[in-house]
Amino acid sequence: MTLWSGRFRAGLDSLASVLNNSLPVDKRLFAEDIRGSQAWARALAAAGVITPAEMDILVKGLESVLEEMKTETFQFLEADEDIHTAVERRLTELVGPTGGKLHTGRSRNDQVATDFRLWMLEETKHLDAAVKSLQQALVKRAEKDMDVILPGYTHFQQAQPILLSHWWLSHFWALQRDRERLNQLAQRASVLPLGSAALAGTTFPIDRFILANDLGFSIPSQNSLDAISDRDFAAEFLFWSAMTGVHLSRLAEALILYSTIEYGFVTMADEFSTGSSLMPQKKNPDMLELTRGKAGTFVGLLTNLLTTLKGLPSAYDKDLQEDKTAVFEAADTMSVLLPVVEGVISTLTVNTERCRKAIHPAVLATDLADYLVIKGVPFRSAHEAVGKAVRMAEEKGESLYTLTLADYQSIHPSFGEDLFGALSLEASVNRRNVYGGTARDAVVEQLNIAIKMLE
Ligand code: ARG
Repeated sequence: MTLWSGRFRAGLDSLASVLNNSLPVDKRLFAEDIRGSQAWARALAAAGVITPAEMDILVKGLESVLEEMKTETFQFLEADEDIHTAVERRLTELVGPTGGKLHTGRSRNDQVATDFRLWMLEETKHLDAAVKSLQQALVKRAEKDMDVILPGYTHFQQAQPILLSHWWLSHFWALQRDRERLNQLAQRASVLPLGSAALAGTTFPIDRFILANDLGFSIPSQNSLDAISDRDFAAEFLFWSAMTGVHLSRLAEALILYSTIEYGFVTMADEFSTGSSLMPQKKNPDMLELTRGKAGTFVGLLTNLLTTLKGLPSAYDKDLQEDKTAVFEAADTMSVLLPVVEGVISTLTVNTERCRKAIHPAVLATDLADYLVIKGVPFRSAHEAVGKAVRMAEEKGESLYTLTLADYQSIHPSFGEDLFGALSLEASVNRRNVYGGTARDAVVEQLNIAIKMLE
């Protein structure tokens, strides 16, 4: 027996029923469904639609269903179309005909939207904690690796030396924005659909403000049609996963390169590396490659839901049942991915010497040009002169360190003995002492702000 069999002569075709059933996906909403139903029973009683005694029977009966679900003793039946059907069926088995009063003035349309939002409000808290924990790992790395200088790249060519801590923290800020987005979308999801019924609003005098408060929502929805079809919060969540996934992927891509023999900047811990079945020497960064791979999945899931939504006329359409598959997959993947990335980062070893040795002397060219600028040479001419020095070094098989003062002076008369003082990695880094720059003092200041943000 389905919830809607009254007007039908024949039951649903067996394959059609497989397509129709969403129980495998939405059974994880059991706790939210039961919470929502208990609040609905209280609202019905407050409105005088059911008696306090009936409310009591419903609330207690639902508590027993919850217990069965939690202890996994609940017996699902073939005919349980979705979690809402299963809960109500079992409730009626347990408490008798009073169970049939629960769905008064309610539809699965406002029910599912309420359950899904309740779930979202909880899930965003867990994921926020997971991102925060990853940020803490980045902060710890930044504290630990403060003395490590490595090449900074633009166009993937060596550009200027930077502190490794500065690089770690660059990823911290991207995740900080991700957490802001997550919390903002949770705020927007905190709107109660219940009371909207199928599409037009319930006929019973339910106080939806009290109901919203009872369930922990900020406000009740203002429009019943919008309330039962609005899945913006789900799409926003999928954008959040896609954006966070892309951030993790970019971090992963760099670390994959930095762990190659050619770079050797970092070495992954065994716990987060895998071997090859053929090549005995291999130690592969599979976790980071999967991080990169999952970003594609997240983008796909966002596209999946937006494509579902784009053709839907106002109010509930069954297409909406697809919303949860995408969101649950994204959430489940994220809850594994975030701690794994955190594990990779907190256990890897940094090879300080390799980082430093990889820096080509020519990355100090900007510093040398700035040196001339301080001597009064216009920046354009300084740029030209240092460019010539880089070329001369290349042609002579020398470097900016080993060209002689005479070489430099043949290029520009403003070069003096003190130019060699400008050619130091530490000096180069520390000269970038602007707020937000890579100088040690600036990075320490940045680190303190980051730590404050985590409090
Ligand atoms: N299982 C459905 C879903 O997830 C519940 C809503 C069903 N509503 C309906 N009018 N058939 O969307």
